[in-house]
Amino acid sequence: MGFVYSQLVVQLPYPTGSYAGKTVVVTGSNTGLGKEAARHYARLGASRLILAVRSIDKGNAAKADIESTTSCGKNVIEVWQPDLGSYASVKDFAANISSDLERVDIFNANAGLARKKYHTAEDNEETITVNVVSTFLLAALVLPKLKETMKRFNVRPTLAITSSGGHTFAKFPQKDAPEGQIFSTINDPNASSKVFAEQYPLSKMLEIFAVRSVGENDPGVTVNCIDPGFCESELARDQDGIFFPLMKFFLARTTEKGSRTLIHAGSRGSQTHGKYLSNCKIAEPSDIVTGPEGKKLQERLWIELTQKLENIQPGVTANFRA
Ligand SMILES: NC(=O)c1ccc[n+]([C@@H]2O[C@H](COP(=O)([O-])OP(=O)(O)OC[C@H]3O[C@@H](n4cnc5c(N)ncnc54)[C@H](OP(=O)(O)O)[C@@H]3O)[C@@H](O)[C@H]2O)c1
Repeated sequence: MGFVYSQLVVQLPYPTGSYAGKTVVVTGSNTGLGKEAARHYARLGASRLILAVRSIDKGNAAKADIESTTSCGKNVIEVWQPDLGSYASVKDFAANISSDLERVDIFNANAGLARKKYHTAEDNEETITVNVVSTFLLAALVLPKLKETMKRFNVRPTLAITSSGGHTFAKFPQKDAPEGQIFSTINDPNASSKVFAEQYPLSKMLEIFAVRSVGENDPGVTVNCIDPGFCESELARDQDGIFFPLMKFFLARTTEKGSRTLIHAGSRGSQTHGKYLSNCKIAEPSDIVTGPEGKKLQERLWIELTQKLENIQPGVTANFRA
């Protein structure tokens, strides 16, 4: 009932205020929640808005659409190309952020996917690479620019990761793997095929665990994560059957309404650092995260994730600290 109430009754605040002077980056912004969030930032006067997308053509189409429906003008939106399925692409994109942007006030790490079948990207199953490893690699690589922005402009930038209330569907049997082997068990095609329907919710739970770990330090910028609710978008493009279309028909928020949660989280301060936000409020994630074994599990996951990030880019995880 909580889910139905949240979907059909709860009203999310319509984004207001001015984003003049701010530079905003939104990943996965050619469609879905990211595109509608970008439209809000453009409408509210962001000075520089980076659509971070894996297809330049789709990004240019989104840019033209946003420009034609807001009065942001032609010089605000830029289309940049990270592919989160490739660590090299993530590194190149982050290097461009570092060299070409004077400031980053809001970074919505929103790109994500929900695969129906097992695919590999880099050293993981693709959902895990895109939603978790590349998302936190990107976070670690752009945090220095957000910290620089904090010092130069005396503001507190925010990096908001789009997680999901759907994380509650993950039972996470791989958590019982031997020490140091949780990610390898999640990535094991044989082990994961038995619970592959949980791979996407699990990836979203891993994001929440990691944000809580980042939240234990205060790097001077806010890092939080979001449950946008169940929303219309292209996320279920890989799924077949009648379940998702039916759910969407009866329960989904419009993409625009869901996108309000991205602006809300991107505009929050230190009180949301390390937190999970649902319905535009600080909320508690599932029992697996908050229960008696959650803290130990969080520590194990953080050791494994940061080791992965260090293998990709030595030294990068120091950026999560102050
Ligand atoms: N819709 C919901 O009900 C819901 C609920 C909870 C959480 N979320 C989360 O919200 C976020 C946005 O999803 P959405 O619902 O808006 O779905 P969407 O319409 O499918 O948008 C996903 C975006 O992520 C991009 N993306 C996927 N793989 C990528 C990669 N390898 N590199 C770079 N970009 C990539 C997509 O680009 P392409 O178009 O090029 O593939 C697209 O721009 C996701 O993190 C999702 O998990 C959604």
